[in-house]
Amino acid sequence: MDLHARRADSFGEQAQAYAEHRPDYPLAAIRWALEPLAQDRRLDVLDLAAGTGKLTAGLVAEGHCVTAVEPNEQMLSELVRRVHDVRALPGHAEHIPVPDQTVDAVLVGTAFHWFDHAKTMPEIARVLRPGGVVAAMWNEPDMSVDWLAEFERVSASSVQMTRQDPAGMLAHPLFGTPERQVFQHAQHRDSPEALVATVNTHSRMLVVSAEERETVNEKMLAFLRSRPETSNGPFDVPMRTDVTRMVLSG
Ligand SMILES: C[S@@+](CC[C@H](N)C(=O)[O-])C[C@H]1O[C@@H](n2cnc3c(N)ncnc32)[C@H](O)[C@@H]1O
Repeated sequence: MDLHARRADSFGEQAQAYAEHRPDYPLAAIRWALEPLAQDRRLDVLDLAAGTGKLTAGLVAEGHCVTAVEPNEQMLSELVRRVHDVRALPGHAEHIPVPDQTVDAVLVGTAFHWFDHAKTMPEIARVLRPGGVVAAMWNEPDMSVDWLAEFERVSASSVQMTRQDPAGMLAHPLFGTPERQVFQHAQHRDSPEALVATVNTHSRMLVVSAEERETVNEKMLAFLRSRPETSNGPFDVPMRTDVTRMVLSG
């Protein structure tokens, strides 16, 4: 298995920690993603690569009828345990396990970069009803904040992924022009250890050796204990949710 595939499949062994330590999505980002659709009815929304249900929970809270699709068994079990009133199905983005034209929107939380774009976009188009929406969003630390930019450097492992332009990643002839919006929010952390636990749910930490993980963890803790923003008890991590949406072409 190549590194990309190993990383894409790495989350399950830490599914419980993932659910506990990864941030939620702001409801404003979810509302903006679904804005091109009629707002006067309950929408059928498919959460693709749903993981442990971070985005799913927001969609359910907004009152939508949600189908969560996720290939990793441990992630899907965690989702079923934590999020109720949702249909949960095993499956990949490249073969979405629902019939043609049965959903109003397909949403993807911090996962689109794992998909085979050429196979996934026609699949998404197939399951959407006419005028349907696809939106991919990424939750990421706000790198305009000095201590976070420095922390990102300290928390680097030997495995790094280059960030791609979201609109470029999604663009496809079956869909209209990508639109993009960024939403600020924050993740509350009780201690430096809790932020280190968050970083340890990222694939760049999950696929390295235990020795390397320990070395990076020690560096992260030393940094966070030395900074005024994070050394004294609970703190908020400034976050941004970067959303790109497109409407299915008529
Ligand atoms: C970083 S997690 C995001 C999970 C969730 N959407 C969230 O926002 O917390 C990435 C997820 O993508 C899933 N994944 C990886 N490759 C996939 C594929 N080809 N199709 C569908 N899901 C995939 C992984 O199993 C994992 O649960």
